Amino acid sequence: MSTESQASPPLPPPFNNTTPPPTLLAQGAEARLYKTTYLTPSIPAALKIRPSKPYRHVILDRRLTKQRILHEARCLARLRREGVPVPAVLALDWEGPLNTATGERSVGAWLLMEWIEGPSVRAVLEKWEAWVKRASTEREQRGETFTVSAEEDARVIDLMARIGQAVGHMHRVGIVHGDLTTSNLILRPLPGSPPGQVEESSDADKEPPSLEGEIVLIDFGLAMQSVHEEDRAVDLYVLERAIGSTHPRTERYFSEVLQAYRQSFKGASTVLRRLEEVRMRGRKRSMIG
Ligand SMILES: Nc1ncnc2c1ncn2[C@@H]1O[C@H](COP(=O)(O)OP(=O)(O)O)[C@@H](O)[C@H]1O
Ligand SMILES: [Mg+2]
Repeated sequence: MSTESQASPPLPPPFNNTTPPPTLLAQGAEARLYKTTYLTPSIPAALKIRPSKPYRHVILDRRLTKQRILHEARCLARLRREGVPVPAVLALDWEGPLNTATGERSVGAWLLMEWIEGPSVRAVLEKWEAWVKRASTEREQRGETFTVSAEEDARVIDLMARIGQAVGHMHRVGIVHGDLTTSNLILRPLPGSPPGQVEESSDADKEPPSLEGEIVLIDFGLAMQSVHEEDRAVDLYVLERAIGSTHPRTERYFSEVLQAYRQSFKGASTVLRRLEEVRMRGRKRSMIG
């Protein structure tokens, strides 16, 4: 395959004609995510493109793509209106541009959103774990044992509480996320805090990363409107598994997420009881499968 054919597919207008051009950040199975700008070159924005699927019938494909991008935008708008921290919707096009030569719309639909500054919770927890690991190794070499200080422990607990509150707030207003992993949570630095404190170097794990900031939820591609305790409990279960499997050293803090969640809305306790059942089913399934 030539590099040309591997290059990412064409962008829909006006994004095919901006200086600088959008930069591709993530290429998922369902969507491509670009960083671009909005109105002026100094306002960053996130562009999510849902490519059309060539193997699907044209009319069906257009309908499904339209439904999904509209659905995601509506969830975002709703959460935004209710004061849940999510990116603002700036613009969208559910049809994609018309190719006048073929009469087809082949680029797919797009959604332009507010750019959320800051690392993902996944990246932050990975840095934190790298720091714990490094500190433990250093102590062991000196024949000592390492324990996380009370202050650092409190910082992690506080981060987990902010995650629990954000998820609780989203559930309270009637939306479940559907893909609640630590990659879909961004830790946005508080206004006025120094940007990019964590330097990328071999010594990056000498200090624990900053855990300050506001939790912003992103990626509502699989979200639903639901107030069912089962759907809510599954959201929490997915997050629990995500933290347990990708951040084992922080797993013991997950109870703090649930603690904050419990206090975030009436009915949260029933969701937590349901979570027990969901866990049990999960265990059974992993014993069989
Ligand atoms: N509004 C945004 N601001 C900043 N980064 C974003 C934004 N939306 C998405 N991203 C980045 O792009 C990645 C992929 O976007 P996401 O909506 O999660 O799509 P996918 O369905 O492919 O996971 C995210 O994990 C995040 O790093
Ligand atoms: Mg995602």
